[in-house]
Amino acid sequence: MNQTPIFSRLAGTGSSLPKNCVSNADLQVRLAELGVETSDDWIRTRTGIEQRFIANSDETTSSLAIAAANQALASAGLDPEQVDLIIVATSTSDQIFPSTACVVQAGLGNHKAACFDIQAVCSGFVYALSVADAMVRAGQARHALVIGAEVFSRLMDWRDRTTCVLFGDGAGAVVVSASETPGILASSLHANGSHASILATSGRLESGAIVGDPFLRMDGQAVFKQAVSVLGVNALEVLGKAGVLASDLDWLVPHQANVRILQSVAKKLDLPLEKVVVTVNRHGNTSAASVPLALDEAVKDGRIQENQLVLLQGVGGGFTWGSVLLKMI
Ligand code: UT7
Repeated sequence: MNQTPIFSRLAGTGSSLPKNCVSNADLQVRLAELGVETSDDWIRTRTGIEQRFIANSDETTSSLAIAAANQALASAGLDPEQVDLIIVATSTSDQIFPSTACVVQAGLGNHKAACFDIQAVCSGFVYALSVADAMVRAGQARHALVIGAEVFSRLMDWRDRTTCVLFGDGAGAVVVSASETPGILASSLHANGSHASILATSGRLESGAIVGDPFLRMDGQAVFKQAVSVLGVNALEVLGKAGVLASDLDWLVPHQANVRILQSVAKKLDLPLEKVVVTVNRHGNTSAASVPLALDEAVKDGRIQENQLVLLQGVGGGFTWGSVLLKMI
């Protein structure tokens, strides 16, 4: 029996940020009220971050995800009912269960899609995209919504200046659709659970009480070193799978944690910085939302165009990391 091969491609993108933008100067004033000392200069020089968006109490992971998903559907020219798979990558789910993906499904007015969340912290979006690609190619879905959405501000210990200045909230979404020609070309995911403690929110709920530490804790230097050592290798691995050279890349859309990490990976790949999409200065680190937020921005402003080769990379808690290589078709 002759069957048309099924591939997957990105059919649309969208994003959403909370209303409240907090500059480094605003944060400095707020933290000073808590007796915590920081400065715009420290944050800017060490991380490249100038501002971040912080969710108000009426903004949730699902509300940001729904707004991003609606944009992605509109740009793909699809109605919500046409979606048969929804994956939300998040570490800040609205609730323990049901999944945020189910909340998003209801908010979109879809009643049939398979829905689940993926928990791979800042690598969550590339993990989710790789899973959606595999499910579409296996014929299990024709149109998938893949969303990275987070309210990391709710995990912050505002008295811990080594973390609370770094993170922000937001959501980004893509539609992955079945295609006769390949859009998503290759992916490569990895984890090393022996480094779990360098970036973690280790607390849990037990018998109605929080057991352990409910705040995000990070050994920044250890995470920095891990990120820089795995991302270059991982990029070459995924490029090799697709038979593509780093010099063929039009864009690198990396996880946005620290501009110094982005610069170091670009240098390893011999990629000019003009080919790296940078949003960390305006969004801070939005964990699983950072890659789709950056992707949507560069698609909307016309930098990323049809037929271009784009490498997406995530890295973070777990320790997890991964890459997805795609052609915009
Ligand atoms: O999304 C997952 C991936 N996450 C990441 O990739 C984050 C990776 N790590 C980093 O980006 C960096 O390690 C940080 C931005 C977190 C920290 O930068 P660093 O250059 O490694 O600084 P450090 O931790 O070595 O701290 C240097 C100094 C310390 O003071 P002393 O001990 O030298 O007196 C800190 O106490 O900076 C101090 N410091 C601050 N000062 C002002 C730490 N945080 C702050 C702050 N404001 N917010």
